[in-house]
Amino acid sequence: MIIRTIKSLDFNFIIGLAALENIRYSKKDLKRIIDFEPEGCFIALDGEQRLGIVTTITYGNVGWIGNLLVEKSTRRRGTGTKLVKEALEYMQKKDVNVPKLYCFPKRIPFYRRLGFKTEINVQVMIGKGKKIAFSEVKQLSDDALHEMLLLDKKMFGADRSRLLCRLHQEFPKNCFAAYYKKKLIGYIMANGSEDEFELGPWVCLPKYQNRYAEQLLRAGINSLDTKIIDLSTPLNNIMIENILVNYSFKKQGIVVRMGCRGSSLGNIESVLGIAGLDKG
Ligand SMILES: CC(C)(COP(=O)(O)OP(=O)(O)OC[C@H]1O[C@@H](n2cnc3c(N)ncnc32)[C@H](O)[C@@H]1OP(=O)(O)O)[C@@H](O)C(=O)NCCC(=O)NCCS
Repeated sequence: MIIRTIKSLDFNFIIGLAALENIRYSKKDLKRIIDFEPEGCFIALDGEQRLGIVTTITYGNVGWIGNLLVEKSTRRRGTGTKLVKEALEYMQKKDVNVPKLYCFPKRIPFYRRLGFKTEINVQVMIGKGKKIAFSEVKQLSDDALHEMLLLDKKMFGADRSRLLCRLHQEFPKNCFAAYYKKKLIGYIMANGSEDEFELGPWVCLPKYQNRYAEQLLRAGINSLDTKIIDLSTPLNNIMIENILVNYSFKKQGIVVRMGCRGSSLGNIESVLGIAGLDKG
């Protein structure tokens, strides 16, 4: 078996592999994922046969592993393990000492064997965009980006500028900010293509959640009219879960955040929606 970095000629294989796990990727989505970490996204091959993939994205000393997928007919032969080890080795070379990932609960033993420990649970939800009114929040302007990146660094626990600038550049109409006395206290962003989008990060300082969290969500839902929306919310906030249910979001399942070192990361009380399962 050899492992090499993913190239665009692998995209058709990856789209098919992901579809079998109900993950609908377009070539545009894959290009965005690979562009973040071109040297950190890997495919395993046996001769000509493609076996499976894994992706990473790094934010300074924090790194995220995602999209671990192996062809059904070739599972349980060590490919998944080798791909995760390759991702970890890559991140180590980039001085990432806090590797993290989201996994399905049934995969916990698999990742435990690789040194990961469980941290928090996250509820995955699916909804639909529609035209609705919103107030008190406005589209995130270029001028506000710097303030947003500083707030995100505090709340997420690492500098995600690379990710968030790219999302803002590609999806400006899906990014919103909330202000209290001219100070940025929350934001929401989205990314995706064609019919399906991830709504997140969705962040609001706890003190202001009653007033602004729902308005940020409304702005996001409005901007994704008719699109399918994937949103994953940490399981620590009943108010937020209830709001999502009110907007017809349906629970899809729980995923677990796991990490190799250090369980605390940022200020989870402020995180209402994560950026994505493969991005943190
Ligand atoms: C999860 C997934 C990537 C694992 O890929 P894989 O190639 O089967 O991974 P491995 O072969 O390294 O390990 C899988 C299991 O087979 C076992 N195994 C590995 N080599 C083996 C061998 N030669 N004989 C018997 N069992 C073996 C491992 O111990 C492991 O057991 P565990 O799951 O109980 O810990 C694959 O099942 C998959 O694509 N699933 C669907 C998508 C998914 O769930 N992705 C992970 C998101 S969290």
